[in-house]
Amino acid sequence: MTDLADKLTHPIFEVISDVSAKLNVETYVVGGFVRDLLLRRPCKDIDFVCVGSGIELAQAAARKIDPRVHVNFFKNFGTAHFNYEDYDLEFVGARKESYNRDSRKPIVEEGTLQDDQNRRDFTINAMAISLGKNNYGELLAPFNGLEDLDNGIIRTPLDPDITFSDDPLRMMRAIRFATQLNFYIEAKTLEAITRNKERIKIISQERITDELNKIILAKKPSTGFRLLEETGLLALILPEMQKLKGVETVDDKSHKDNFYHTLQVLDNITFSTNDLWLRWAAILHDIAKPVTKRFEDGVGWTFHGHEVVGSKWVPRIFKNMKLPLGPEMKFVQKMVYLHLRPIALTKEEISDSALRRLLFEAGDDIDSLMKLCEADITSKNKTKVNRYLQRFENVRQKLKDVEERDSIRNFQPPVSGELIMQTFGIGPSKEVGVIKDKIKEAILDGEIRNDYEEAHAMMLKLGAELGLTIAAK
Ligand code: CTP
Repeated sequence: MTDLADKLTHPIFEVISDVSAKLNVETYVVGGFVRDLLLRRPCKDIDFVCVGSGIELAQAAARKIDPRVHVNFFKNFGTAHFNYEDYDLEFVGARKESYNRDSRKPIVEEGTLQDDQNRRDFTINAMAISLGKNNYGELLAPFNGLEDLDNGIIRTPLDPDITFSDDPLRMMRAIRFATQLNFYIEAKTLEAITRNKERIKIISQERITDELNKIILAKKPSTGFRLLEETGLLALILPEMQKLKGVETVDDKSHKDNFYHTLQVLDNITFSTNDLWLRWAAILHDIAKPVTKRFEDGVGWTFHGHEVVGSKWVPRIFKNMKLPLGPEMKFVQKMVYLHLRPIALTKEEISDSALRRLLFEAGDDIDSLMKLCEADITSKNKTKVNRYLQRFENVRQKLKDVEERDSIRNFQPPVSGELIMQTFGIGPSKEVGVIKDKIKEAILDGEIRNDYEEAHAMMLKLGAELGLTIAAK
């Protein structure tokens, strides 16, 4: 018997144990908390299952902890929940569940602990720790969950076809846990994912995307994407990415497989950022390569304009994935659009004006863009990689120098449209735009400095050229 009493260090467990004894119900800590406790991963969500009413247990526990604690409950589902310190405590009565095949809505019946464990997703998530007075701390793992945890295996407690059919999101969860924990999905379970993949269609996009984002935020997201691809789920949930896969050969010339290249870029960028959106930019940076692909005689494979087409696709992909359509999307779009620019800078003698233009377009996102470009170097040849990284370092340094001199990053026109209108006594018109634009171009080209004096002088000159006269004060 595995005794985990000394691991239940938080006083809340004693309280729940006392209250359960008083109410005469068996209570267990279950699911993710038990798994994470054994893996020594921090976990702030604690799920309690009791053989009886979860709502009554929650209310009695909350009263004992602090009568001011507010308990939320859902009578129809027999669940209750409250927050205590920074923990999220969830209570439910043990259930037998069967599902309606065409929806996620379960038909709930009261059950035993064993029934409750049967209906859980994976053996590692189906372990319970007793809070009973006579066996406090005892681990109940009927499906060898502890061995699976030790061996790093994801496996369903029941026939996987049943477990996945009951809740198809579990197919994504299996892949997500395999990625986060660096576990293997047992062969039968993996085969069942492939067999049941179409059932993912009954799951809401928000829940699918939530799992996908957890995969993307893992230490090595490529593990998850390989599994999604192998099982056929990727083609259903992110078809544009599936289309990156494959190599074509003409005249003995092959292009690289853009799916595996993208995975490498995604893994690379995990070393420099935890930002979900920059990771999404890595996923989408080459997304339009398949549609822009050409074989040109004497040149080989080209993907002209893939950054432009790709950035135009970002809003549609974000909308389909139910990802936010505000600044996060705009950021990803910008990254995709600009991702070739720093590379172009490493190939030529770098002019200050090219650097200023890049700073102007990237603004405060220049550092993210440089991270994406560095991650985009995926050659197997170490010397080549180092050479490129060195050149990027050089570009970074030059960007810094130019920024220190000219402050282009958050470019604000040194003369405003308002001032142009006042100076020449004109209203909003085409001329105002022309003057502003020419001043901006002159600054980016280094013809004038980014300051008021020089911009003002240029404004007067341009006004005269356009036949404008200075208005009397
Ligand atoms: N569960 C399940 N099927 C699901 C979702 C959850 O069987 N589709 C069960 C599992 O036993 C899981 C528990 O409910 O351990 C709690 O679920 P949840 O809080 O969503 O996940 P965790 O396993 O705690 O993991 P994480 O917090 O990383 O999402």
